[in-house]
Amino acid sequence: MTLRQDFLWGGAVAANQCEGGYAEGNKGLSTVDVIPAGKDRVPVMKGKVSMLECDEEHFYPSHEAIDFYHRYKEDIALLAEMGFKCFRLSLAWTRIYPNGDDELPNEEGLKFYECVFDECLKYGIEPLVTITHFDVPIHLVKTIGSWRSRKMVEYYERLCETIFTRYKDKVKYWLTFNEINMLLHLPFGSSGLVFEEGENEDAVKYQAAHHQLVASAKATEIARRINPEFKIGCMLAGASTYPYTCAPDDVWKAMTRDREHYFFVDVQSRGEYPSYARKMLERMDIHLEMEDGDEECLRNNTVDFISFSYYGSRLTSADPEVNTQTAANLFPTLRNPHLTTSEWGWQIDPLGLRITLNALYDRYQKPLFIVENGLGALDTPDETGYIADDYRIGYLREHIKAFITAVEEDGVDLLGYTTWGCIDLVSSSSGEMSKRYGFVYVDKDDAGNGTLERRKKQSFEWYKKVIHSNGIEL
Ligand code: BG6
Repeated sequence: MTLRQDFLWGGAVAANQCEGGYAEGNKGLSTVDVIPAGKDRVPVMKGKVSMLECDEEHFYPSHEAIDFYHRYKEDIALLAEMGFKCFRLSLAWTRIYPNGDDELPNEEGLKFYECVFDECLKYGIEPLVTITHFDVPIHLVKTIGSWRSRKMVEYYERLCETIFTRYKDKVKYWLTFNEINMLLHLPFGSSGLVFEEGENEDAVKYQAAHHQLVASAKATEIARRINPEFKIGCMLAGASTYPYTCAPDDVWKAMTRDREHYFFVDVQSRGEYPSYARKMLERMDIHLEMEDGDEECLRNNTVDFISFSYYGSRLTSADPEVNTQTAANLFPTLRNPHLTTSEWGWQIDPLGLRITLNALYDRYQKPLFIVENGLGALDTPDETGYIADDYRIGYLREHIKAFITAVEEDGVDLLGYTTWGCIDLVSSSSGEMSKRYGFVYVDKDDAGNGTLERRKKQSFEWYKKVIHSNGIEL
């Protein structure tokens, strides 16, 4: 078995990291618009510091980002030139419902995405749409506490009903929540949760998770009613966890770590809370509020495919003395001495991608989709402005080889591969522009200076060749 002929090669972005125009077209303010760059960013995302307004002292990278809002035609033309089959992007909830609870959608926002989809379709590029990528209308945070409230399910359903109806002939592939498991790690950054003094944060998080899981199932139900041809996927911040040693305690620890993440996909794909999660919640003395019909809704509306991001594997130990933490997409992980790291300390492990693909396929037996992968690196233009990013090519080549092996030798069913940040954009964890992933360079620095001019990097021609040969010429 080789890659399928209709393999969806492409790239991925998220609204708040590329669009800009944060207050244009009647767009409302969103959580991602009040998260500043700089030292306050991670504490705000983790819910340790609460900021629900913009102020003069901070710089907010989402406000202009790379100005995709005004330049999408030029950008999509570049993606088309590389031969993209698929472009993953997200909708800004507040472009469509500026406050989240508005009775009627904002036509200007709906029109904007319609134009973006038409532009993709003009080149035969399949849009893959993330319904929410870490954004919550600020109004809903202030009035109902975001996903801690059951009301969110209703507002999310309203959003889905609107977009599925409007785009039913333009979009086929949908993802309900970006990296749904990130809720446990970035409660504000991913889900708009703000904690009150002394409350049980885990209880709030798991209740919010329940609301998102129900919302995801309801979205699937609505999607099937509106267009049975739709394909609905869940989205996991993926990566298998390795045990630090072969000590059974370490192996057990790694298994429980993985379950923290699988928990979400177990519900979304198998349709019920797994027994280990029920027991865990019992032990934590967390009693989820469920409504009549929730369990049935979860059971009847499982996803069609499983998508995930993969940057590198994770490592854990049961021994508290082993504490060589390193960065990994804001997930805690130990430093693996067998791996190299990126300039931001993220571990590089192509074989880990094959391992993760197999683990997910063994567990769920549903088609998989790698919707994020890539190397965040410093790119330095030479005197002519050219960027020779052979390091990025090297990273991607090894990961592509790994997933091709998973398909050819292990029989994994893989729908496609969209590299993260195919055009340079704002980093989610750091708010920097200098952490670049793209095949296309965007002239802008961390402080917001630059012409926003687009330039092809060395990897541009390379990826074009990869797509054209369906992964043969690497
Ligand atoms: C994923 C997110 O967690 O990782 C993206 O879905 C993010 O939004 C990507 O950009 C890479 O992370 P970073 O921090 O390098 O931008």
